[in-house]
Amino acid sequence: MTKNCLICSHNIEPFISFGPQPIANGFLLPDQFKNEYFFQMDVAFCPKCTMVQLMDQPDREKMFHSNYAFYSSTSSHMAKHFEKFANEVMMKYQPSFVVEIGSNDGIMLKHFANKGIKHLGIEPSANVADESRLHGVNVVSRFFDESLAEDIVGEYGQADCILSANVMAHIPDLHSVFAGIKKLLKPGGVLIFEDPYMGDILEKTSYDQIYDEHAFFFSLNSIEYLAKQHGMETIDAYPQETHGGSMRYTVANRGTHLKNDRVRAWMEKEEYMDMDKPATYEKFRQNVEKSRENLLQVLTEIKRNGGNIVGYAATAKSATITNYCEIGPDLIDFICDTTPIKQGKFSPGMHIPVKSYAEFTGKHPSHSLLFAWNHTKEIMEKETGFKGKWIVYVPEVKVL
Ligand code: SAH
Ligand code: TMP
Ligand code: ZN
Repeated sequence: MTKNCLICSHNIEPFISFGPQPIANGFLLPDQFKNEYFFQMDVAFCPKCTMVQLMDQPDREKMFHSNYAFYSSTSSHMAKHFEKFANEVMMKYQPSFVVEIGSNDGIMLKHFANKGIKHLGIEPSANVADESRLHGVNVVSRFFDESLAEDIVGEYGQADCILSANVMAHIPDLHSVFAGIKKLLKPGGVLIFEDPYMGDILEKTSYDQIYDEHAFFFSLNSIEYLAKQHGMETIDAYPQETHGGSMRYTVANRGTHLKNDRVRAWMEKEEYMDMDKPATYEKFRQNVEKSRENLLQVLTEIKRNGGNIVGYAATAKSATITNYCEIGPDLIDFICDTTPIKQGKFSPGMHIPVKSYAEFTGKHPSHSLLFAWNHTKEIMEKETGFKGKWIVYVPEVKVL
């Protein structure tokens, strides 16, 4: 099967298949099991523009709606991260109008709201958008694209800064997004966005970053290619620890800003890592298969020895691990998660019960499989009382 690259139209074909996968944030009740939606999750690398991308993605309305299960503010470390992000933008650009694409529960924009800075959030998932309104955030509950950008310019004028975190990689029609950004941004304005970084995914074999919502896996090179197509350029690339390794890109109209030296350094690093070579993705596929084998071996061994395993945090990422490795309730008793909307439901695809965090602290299991590995620091700080063992799988499968 082949298709055209979403960025450059080159013919691409998958280098890895994860088989049928469910909606990763689609936690469900037993009466919904028989009608559960699955899509074929295959991933391709484009040798022309270097963008890594899903071959198919479910319709956006299946993923983002008024019952969206991911609330950004469930992590206190992420709350601090976005407060810092907001403060840095205020200091560096002193914007008079800021737009955030995918503002979720207001985790970042509320800091602009608190300072009385003119702002607008764009958040199609109505439940999380409503939550942000409780924090004083001005938000429009629609999907960002070129036509919405025109509406916003008409009503509010152009923005100094357009911000976005963990959203750009969710939107298949990035050409419409960039065309919209061109219109919405003041000529000398900046677009600052961050997303999980393909370099980290390769280095850590963190294939659980691959799930329905993530249409793309960005590298600096692929972003530069995309920006260029729209008369823009990357003026900064700054790595972040969030989501297991992200990159924050600053993009501006060509020639309007100085390029930070980091851009060239990261371009060189990507070249050194052979991120533009198909063989790199072939090697990644082999690493993924090995990781699955090792994880299944560890889990079955624990069960054979009479241990019991609880999953820690029903992350969207865990949907890929459980479905690809076929880890079900026979191996994991339940998954604990602090998000009320997930509790009492079952995990997508493998239907592992999701329970409240109290169930974990109430009766500690012999082993806990750390699905929220990207929040390791925050979790270890609060789980000093857990006497069982942790099972981790990034960057390698290990029992700690
Ligand atoms: N920025 C937050 C939320 C990331 S989750 C954070 O980093 O924690 C992704 C969010 O993008 C969801 O809230 C989803 O509803 C939103 N989203 C998806 N498609 C979008 C689009 N086309 N325009 C704006 N937001 C979108
Ligand atoms: P994320 O990996 O996409 O940020 O998702 C985080 C999920 O993990 C979310 O459902 C909340 C949950 N979680 C916990 O249950 N306990 C925790 O301590 C943390 C940090 C997150
Ligand atoms: Zn391409």
